[in-house]
Amino acid sequence: MSTNILKGKRGIIFGALNSQSIAWKVAERAHEEGAKFVLTNAPIAMRMGEINTLAEKTGSEIIPADATNLEDLDNLVTQSVEKLGGKIDFVLHSIGMSPNVRKGKHYTENDYRYYMQTMDVSAISLHKTLATCMKHDALSEWGSVIALSYIAAQRIFPDYNDMADAKSLLESIARSFGYHYGIKKKVRINTISQSPTVTTAGQGIKGFNEFINFSEQMSPLGNAPALACADYCIALFSDLTKYVTMQNLFHDGGFATTGVTQEVIEKFGD
Ligand SMILES: NC(=O)c1ccc[n+]([C@@H]2O[C@H](COP(=O)([O-])OP(=O)(O)OC[C@H]3O[C@@H](n4cnc5c(N)ncnc54)[C@H](O)[C@@H]3O)[C@@H](O)[C@H]2O)c1
Repeated sequence: MSTNILKGKRGIIFGALNSQSIAWKVAERAHEEGAKFVLTNAPIAMRMGEINTLAEKTGSEIIPADATNLEDLDNLVTQSVEKLGGKIDFVLHSIGMSPNVRKGKHYTENDYRYYMQTMDVSAISLHKTLATCMKHDALSEWGSVIALSYIAAQRIFPDYNDMADAKSLLESIARSFGYHYGIKKKVRINTISQSPTVTTAGQGIKGFNEFINFSEQMSPLGNAPALACADYCIALFSDLTKYVTMQNLFHDGGFATTGVTQEVIEKFGD
């Protein structure tokens, strides 16, 4: 259902890899709600080509950018303002990747070069994006930036490995930059801590299928689907949430504040 709540708004959406991606759903919903935006992803991800379908469907341009590369970000931000015809009202940072997870490393034996890459791609890229936007004064007043996080930032989920550390850093960057950008331009910056969701990044985590079932049973409302996450992003991009900033917002069906559910406790009966 569309209410045109983003009519006239301009955005940049990072991270749509395929139709399962959370960013893909956000782009579809933002389009339905009347926004114009640029789609971006790492040049290597473009090779799969699926993003072209999304660009066509939403009438968007694609500007490739490795989110760890400042030159790429400079080009992305300046080109986006030019192509969209004005300052940017919303940015979605939907980026995550850990070479340690990919290579099946144990947290206690992680490779430190990979570890730095995890931090750079999954967390510092948010800082780089915001710094680039600030340098070019590319975000509108009351603009809204969202990065996607996960509860492993606060609680231990062993197989999430160094992505947990990256998410803690990501949430901290959202708070710190949220302060500075808030003072300077009234830009709001938040993270959404999303339920486990079946996507390419999600499925990279060991034991993901068991984990998603556990999480489902531990959430009074069940796991939040990707489309519901997209709806939440739209709400936060809109003008109806103008004073929400520097928050980590759980979008998880109640998982974060549930100690145990009856369904789970019954599994431990005689
Ligand atoms: N799937 C889940 O269970 C889940 C849960 C909570 C949070 N998240 C977060 O949601 C976000 C989106 O992930 P997703 O689940 O939609 O998976 P996804 O694999 O579809 O998206 C991850 C994206 O990151 C992009 N990316 C990787 N390296 C990059 C780089 N150097 N520059 C630019 N882009 C790069 C990938 O190309 C991909 O499009 C991530 O931050 C992820 O950690 C996912």
